[in-house]
Parts: sequence; structure tokens; C-alpha cells
Amino acid sequence: MTKQREEFGSRLGFILAAAGSAVGIGNLVGFPVNAAKSGGAAFLLVYAFFVVVICLPVMMAEMSLGRHTQRNPLGAYSSLSGGSALWKIGGWLALITPFMIAVFYQVLTVWLLAYFIGAVTGNLALMAEPTYFGTFITDTRVFIYLIVLTVLIGFILNSGVQKGIERLAKTLMPTLFVMLLLLTAFVLTLPNALIGVKYYLVPDISKINAEVVSIALGQAFFSLSLGMGILITYGSYVSRQESIAGGAKLVALVDTSVAFFAGLLILPAIFAFNPTTDTTELSTSSVSLVFTFLPKIFLSLQSIVGYTGASVFASAFFLLVFFAALTSQVSILQVPLSAFQDELKFSRVKSVVCLGACAILLVIACTVSFGMVDYFTHFTYYGGASKSFFDIVIDVFYDTILPLNGFIVCVFAMYYWKKANLNTELAVGDKQFEGSFTQKYINGSLGTVIPLVLLLVFINTVFIKFFGLSLIG
Ligand code: PHE
Repeated sequence: MTKQREEFGSRLGFILAAAGSAVGIGNLVGFPVNAAKSGGAAFLLVYAFFVVVICLPVMMAEMSLGRHTQRNPLGAYSSLSGGSALWKIGGWLALITPFMIAVFYQVLTVWLLAYFIGAVTGNLALMAEPTYFGTFITDTRVFIYLIVLTVLIGFILNSGVQKGIERLAKTLMPTLFVMLLLLTAFVLTLPNALIGVKYYLVPDISKINAEVVSIALGQAFFSLSLGMGILITYGSYVSRQESIAGGAKLVALVDTSVAFFAGLLILPAIFAFNPTTDTTELSTSSVSLVFTFLPKIFLSLQSIVGYTGASVFASAFFLLVFFAALTSQVSILQVPLSAFQDELKFSRVKSVVCLGACAILLVIACTVSFGMVDYFTHFTYYGGASKSFFDIVIDVFYDTILPLNGFIVCVFAMYYWKKANLNTELAVGDKQFEGSFTQKYINGSLGTVIPLVLLLVFINTVFIKFFGLSLIG
């Protein structure tokens, strides 16, 4: 008798788990930084436009592929293509990409955990010193946090989809929403916060150019966890009573709302710190914003709420981002994990241990890429700059491959698996799908405009990252 595949226990559980994957560092930090630099509400509008016209159809296609095949991305591509080698490449890409993204995301999640503990134990003033981050990332104590986090994630994954992932999302996601709202409400009461709100909500259309449009699309794609095989994998655990289109829309709404509120939290906090902040000086990197800039801002709150109050605020913020990162990390690791289980028929425990063993060496290589080991710090040179091992993982998997994977999903679903089969799967558990606007839109765009745009973004990114040339604007 074949063992029944696990399933999410409820619609809410599935939505929260998928939203848990989507809501991550990208929403809480990446989005506010990009919005601040690129026209505030004008960026938000472009972003929301892409969520609806490009990302949602891709999301539905990924979930449908997963639910139909009941497999991980590698299995999904190879089972529908009769094992054709070309499509296997798509499957492998959709497997290796999440694995490598998980590797670098683990480093960031470890840092978030360490910063949370730092703030809780009264070290905010130290963390706000300009040289702190540089010292912190070369300190071997970071490995202690790495071990703690790895074991924690191993336990969650080992508990299974329903008891591990779904339960985690059901606990952490509502907590995260409440924390985000409370922190935002608090920041809005600070002096000068309204300057930030105005800056954020009054659209500056003049900032919108080809580059900003491309950043908005990349941000939306990443933020919804597309092209990482996650939604194919999660789709495989979705019951046939659920509406995929309805679920995808809800997940996109939650994800975009969280990004919106994160902007409403971070920008006013920055302006409360310095009402004449020049936002063009904000670093593009979310990493430097979270770990070097924000501790300084949090510390400055001590003039209003005292050192303890500022530390409580900083602890709550780091815990919030840590929770978001943890639920994303668990979702992305579930992809290779389910491949071990489906393809190699490993038990769950064995899969978790093997995955951990494969990942840990690469995570260590990334962790020491910040000065601890020279070989990994100056690993190679391209695009006009010296690159560390960590940089390569980000450039290749995070920036470049995601739109390519999105392109492959669209072409595969529409031309290989075929439009009619995709339609049939989307109509399962969804009486309203047949004849709906969503159906018409998917059928009209998923095989044409959407893959074309994703292919262009991919080609453009390759030129920017590896040859230092931009093809657009
Ligand atoms: N959507 C996530 C974010 O915004 C992206 C992600 C998902 C990253 C899963 C890693 C793992 O951060």
C-alpha cells in the first residue's frame, strides 16, 4: 500500500504556511528600502501592478503543477515530461535554487537571532556602534547561533508538514502580524514620524524609470517566493478541495500588506531619527540597513522611551524579522527535503539529516566569507568587483536564476503540460474558476507576455551582474 502524502490540515493552515514563506526579510526590509529610494507610493503601485499581472499567474501555475503531480519540483517536471532531459534541467534548477538560497538565508537568519539576543541582553548601545557589525561577522561565536538555529529548523522539519510547518505558521504568523501593527502604531506616535509617512505615501512619479520598474518586478517575484520551487512543493500538500486561485490571491494580499506596513514602520522610524534624512543615501542592501543602520535608530529612541524602552523595541523588531525569516527558511528547505523523500524514498529523519549535512558545509563557507577566511572572502572576480563566496551565491541564485525559473514554469505549464491541463487542475476545488476573469487572464498571458518579460529580466540581470552592463535604461 502506498503511503498517503501529507496534506495541510486546513485552508487556513495552507494560506498561513504559504504566507509564512512569502513574508520574509524581503518584505520587512527589502521592500521599505526600495520604496524609500524609488518614489514611495509610486513604487508601491508599480510593485502591486506586477504582483497582480505577472506574479499571481506564475504562483497559480506553480501550485497547480505541485498539486497535480503530488511531487517536489524535480519529480513534477520529470513525471509530466516523461523524463525528458531538457525538462529535467528545469527540475534540477528548481531544486538547487532553493537549496542555495536557503544556504545564504541561513546566514542572515543566524545574524537576526544573534541581534535579537543582543538586544534582549541589554547590548543595544554596543550594537549601534559603527564598527560593531564588522566585528560581529568575523567573531567565531556566530557558530554557536548557527548550531542552535540549525537544530531548531531540523526539529521543525522533522515534525512534518502538518505538525511542523503548519503549526509553526499558525503560531508565528498571527504573532508576526500583531507585532508589526503594534510596532508601527508605536513608531507613528514618535515626533517627526509624519514626515516619513508623507514621504512614503505621497507618490513621486519622477523617480520611476526602467531600472526602478525592473527592481519592483524582481522584488515582487522574490517576495512571493516564486521561482524557488516552494509553491510547487507546497502545492503538492494542498487538498483537492481547495481553490488554488483563491489561495494564491490571499497569499499575495497578505504578503503585499505586510510589505506595505513594514514601510510604514521603517520610514517613519528613520525620519524620527533624523527629520532631514536624505533617502538616496540609504544603502541598497537590506543587510546593511538591518544590521548597521537600524540599531542606531533604535538606540536613538532612548531619548523618548529610555534605554530599556529602546531595547524592548529593538528586541521586538529583531524577533519579528527573525520569525519571518524562520518561516521562510523552513518553507524553502522543505523543497530539497521532499525531493529526498520522493525521489530517493528516504525517511523523513534520514532526509533531514542528509539535507543538514549537505547544507552545513556551504553555510559555513558563506559565514566565513566576511573576513574570517581569506579564501572565501576573496573567492573570485567578475562584473568589475571582487566577490566573496556569499556574493556569488546571492548573484547567481537570488538575483539571476529566479526569473529564469519563472520563465521555465510558464513555458512548461502552458506548452508542455498544456493549457487545458492547467485549466483542469485550477478548476479542481474551485467552482467559480471556469469562465472567470482569472481564467481568461491566465490563458491569455501565461504563455506569452509573462514568460517574455521574465526572460528579458533574466537576460538583463546576467548583463548587469556579470558584465557590468544594463540593457534597459
Ligand atoms: N519571500 C521571501 C522573502 O521575502 C523569500 C524567501 C523565501 C527567501 C524563502 C528565503 C526562503 O524574504
